[in-house]
Amino acid sequence: MSLLFKSFLNYICDMNILIENASQVVTCHTRGRKFKAGEHQSEIGLLINSSVYIENGRIKWIGKKLPVVLKKKHILKINAKNKTVLPGFIDSHTHLVFAGDRADEYSMRIKGSSYERIAKKGGGILSTVEAVRKASRNELLRLAEKRVDSSIGFGVTTIEAKSGYGLDTATEIKMLEVISKLNHIMPVDVYSTFLGAHAFPKDKTKDEYIDEILYEMIPMIAKKNLATFIDAFCEKDYFSPAQTEKIFRQGMKFSLIPKLHTNQFYSIGGVQAALSCGAISVDHLEVMTSKDINAMKGNDTIACLLPSVSYFLDIPYAPARKLIENKIPVAIATDFNPGSAMSENIQLVMSMAVQLLKMNVEETINAVTINAAAALGVSHNIGSIETGKQGDVLIFDTPNYKDILYHFGVSQLEYVIKRGEVIHNNPF
Ligand code: NIG
Ligand code: FE
Repeated sequence: MSLLFKSFLNYICDMNILIENASQVVTCHTRGRKFKAGEHQSEIGLLINSSVYIENGRIKWIGKKLPVVLKKKHILKINAKNKTVLPGFIDSHTHLVFAGDRADEYSMRIKGSSYERIAKKGGGILSTVEAVRKASRNELLRLAEKRVDSSIGFGVTTIEAKSGYGLDTATEIKMLEVISKLNHIMPVDVYSTFLGAHAFPKDKTKDEYIDEILYEMIPMIAKKNLATFIDAFCEKDYFSPAQTEKIFRQGMKFSLIPKLHTNQFYSIGGVQAALSCGAISVDHLEVMTSKDINAMKGNDTIACLLPSVSYFLDIPYAPARKLIENKIPVAIATDFNPGSAMSENIQLVMSMAVQLLKMNVEETINAVTINAAAALGVSHNIGSIETGKQGDVLIFDTPNYKDILYHFGVSQLEYVIKRGEVIHNNPF
């Protein structure tokens, strides 16, 4: 962030913001629900020629003309004529803290190798583990800061980040401390997930490592208050459903909330293990049997789909339409990581949701706003433009929200506003 921009930010800090006369305000309002499922996932709550007023970081009023009683001295007015206002995007699944890169593996995959084969040869997640163990906290922080900045530039106002490239207590803690620091220094909220069960390290037996997760990592992380969520990679050759459940149950004893990587390559009972622990979300779901889909019906668990992984690894796409038909709430996220999805561009992932998951524009917008908020358990506070909610909003330089997806590969995002402060501005 430039000094000039920072001083501009400071100047407007004590200001309240009136976004005036937007051609469209996409509210994604919930009518009191935690998320949108089934046909409701297509409802976006569209307002025409409307204004949004944010006071002290919260949405105070939405309407046509600001009532006189609300008029204050210090109001920053943004003329939103011919523009569209949306809730801030929420990227509910990333691995943005990492060192090194896997560009050579990418090139090998393009030539015919596969993610699974590279991992079996000791590459993949374990090669990033090596780089992260070697990297200093500052180095990790510096790299991650840049990535969060880049996410903000695509409209992300809340982001989740996982550990999982340490696979030993010291390095997992180092990663989580970096995430906690990011939450303090970056203008967006950064939610932290402990993913010790991401892979098995080379230098321990599986049982030894699981014991380390259960009896060293989880208690220490809870004591230091370093994570909100606990995650695992439940997959053939990684963690079994039984191991996942054991890890989740221990995490839950320490108040960590489960969410799970599952059904990426095989259906081995991961969805069921997650549901039995009341997971807040199940993520990936590229390979889903009808049994898996039936198990998810009627639960509050969010299906968090990651189409950029299918795109990048050339694997099947998650059955988004079937999930929505079965009234399962769908979120989408970038899964930004160096191996299976090397992109922090949530707008690109939205385009993939429309073109490749066959979700409609409205379903896709709800998938990165209100449903993504639900995947982080915060849809009471963010994810929609409703009075009382946090003032996290985006202004796009187009009069029609559909244009955001129609005009693909180009960002028309002009303002990113977090808690009523402009944190990114791209003048058109
Ligand atoms: O969500 N599938 C497991 N974990 C990550 C990939 C991590 C990596 O390859 O570095 C994912 O795809
Ligand atoms: Fe992931």
